[in-house]
Amino acid sequence: MSEKSDKPEQQKDRREFIVKLGIGAGLVALVGQAVASLRSLVPNVSYGAPTTVKLGLPHDFPDGMKFLPDQRLFVFREGNIFHAISAVCTHLGCTVQYRPESSQIWCACHNGCYDLSGRNVSGPPPRALDRYEVHVRGQEIYVTRKQVA
Ligand code: FES
Repeated sequence: MSEKSDKPEQQKDRREFIVKLGIGAGLVALVGQAVASLRSLVPNVSYGAPTTVKLGLPHDFPDGMKFLPDQRLFVFREGNIFHAISAVCTHLGCTVQYRPESSQIWCACHNGCYDLSGRNVSGPPPRALDRYEVHVRGQEIYVTRKQVA
């Protein structure tokens, strides 16, 4: 069946259908692009649910600081008080390291420095290291990777 043999009414319906199909496809593409653009404005951490990880027993953590490379985490203990700081640099994500000679946390990638509370003190890091909640439940210590102020 060719277009020439169709009646003018059928040709008009076909054209309208094709135009509506094009408009619909364009709207779907536009909405998809808008959603992707909006998601890119929000940091990925907003999409992740807090996760709780078992760190071990209290006697595994003597007073002072302990680095957990698997978790990329520093755990500090003062008596029965624990707190944890991320070892992920807030500049570009390198793993930072403790420097006992200067009592600082240092990032070798671009010479960023933090104090032992995780506050950025020099170099390019734009903000403090993330701090996490540490809980003692029963006989074990857990950290919740939900940022605390
Ligand atoms: S990644 Fe740590 S200072 Fe750049």
